[in-house]
Amino acid sequence: MSTAIQERVIRPARNVYGSLRLPGDKSISHRYAMLGAFAEGVSRFTNFSTGADCASTLACMQALGAQVKRLEGDAVEITGVAGRVTPAADALDCGNSGSTMRMLSGLLAAQEGSFTLTGDASLSRRPMERIRKPLEAMGARLTLTEGHAPLTIHGGKLTAIDYTTPVPSAQVKTCVLLAGLQTEGTTTVHEAVRTRDHSELALRAFGATVTRTSGSVSIAGPQYLHAIEAAVPGDLSSAAFFLCAAALFPGSGLVLDSIGLNPTRAALLDVLTALGAHISVLNLEEKHAELVGTIQISAPAEGMGTTAVTGALAAQLIDELPVLAAIGPFTSGGLRIRDAKELRVKESDRIALVAKNLRAMGAEVIEFEDGLDVPGGQTLHGATIDSGGDHRIAMAFAVAALRAEGETVIQGAESAAISFPEFFEMLDLVAER
Ligand code: S3P
Repeated sequence: MSTAIQERVIRPARNVYGSLRLPGDKSISHRYAMLGAFAEGVSRFTNFSTGADCASTLACMQALGAQVKRLEGDAVEITGVAGRVTPAADALDCGNSGSTMRMLSGLLAAQEGSFTLTGDASLSRRPMERIRKPLEAMGARLTLTEGHAPLTIHGGKLTAIDYTTPVPSAQVKTCVLLAGLQTEGTTTVHEAVRTRDHSELALRAFGATVTRTSGSVSIAGPQYLHAIEAAVPGDLSSAAFFLCAAALFPGSGLVLDSIGLNPTRAALLDVLTALGAHISVLNLEEKHAELVGTIQISAPAEGMGTTAVTGALAAQLIDELPVLAAIGPFTSGGLRIRDAKELRVKESDRIALVAKNLRAMGAEVIEFEDGLDVPGGQTLHGATIDSGGDHRIAMAFAVAALRAEGETVIQGAESAAISFPEFFEMLDLVAER
């Protein structure tokens, strides 16, 4: 994607109020796109993610032989390759998307041929050793560039493994499961912390049998997938920016319609509740085993309290930590984040960038190797924010800017389009000035 570098000016708000329907979940869209493209038959997905990351997955799957058609209103139709991809003539460009690169690697490792995967500068800095280990243990060969992309997968017939993920990662878990799907025998992934389980639910939706215990997931291969029709739930990680924005203003009121509420993703609601926000969930339903519902939030009249995000909670909330940290100064007792070292190897070093940008806004913050302490009761002033080209940093500081004194300039605001192109327009709809 060649979007020019953009700055966005965010003016302070008096309140956050209204209702929104958000675009489809990024994690689920990646999986539906990958599995639909690999399955036999024609799948259709409505409310598919509008983010550039999922467009990268669609483009890769198209290059591998699937037919992809964009339909009206964020719907996508995919004709799958029925279990056998066409080796792509060129490198597969995963853009900024770690999910695309890591999950697709697992799918391709069990296919005959060589596949080269590339990404942008940020993705080319992210650790890929974590997928090389299990895939090589299964018999594939991966050539990395000093532990990173570009990477080449020499795929073929694999053997099933029993694998324990060293860092909690749904992407690595999925990578191994997608290789296991095509491999004779039972492949099992053990994880110390239960990471998001969209792959397990999606594989079942496409007709596969996946078995789970509290600490492991197994798939017996080979199995074949069949096309489905599905509506992608709204993205809770995108909703996080609005939920945190609403939590900043006593008197706020926000309704977010049809949001994915998968329990492995919904820890933010508990944390905001612990901070004092009033949250209710209505119209709960299940779509292909994914919970979907409407979230209502209002801020506590007395302001937010204090809380800590550590241990397993940190892993489950990993994508929401930048925005939580960004609203930390407006709590009364501060926010403590630990056990979140993975933040350093996301689209940017999110611990360093959150600390840098909070300081730019005049806040005190203490940085740790695996987290941050953000003292409460602080006043922020408008500043120039360095998003580092990271979508979640750009959006997190647009939220903090709503309560700052004076205007804030978000540099690299175009990066929001990686997951949420409509973000700034939607923020304007609910921020009352
Ligand atoms: C994702 C898993 C998480 C998350 C990322 C999306 C997924 O990464 O940070 O935004 O869709 O599986 P890890 O699996 O590397 O923790």
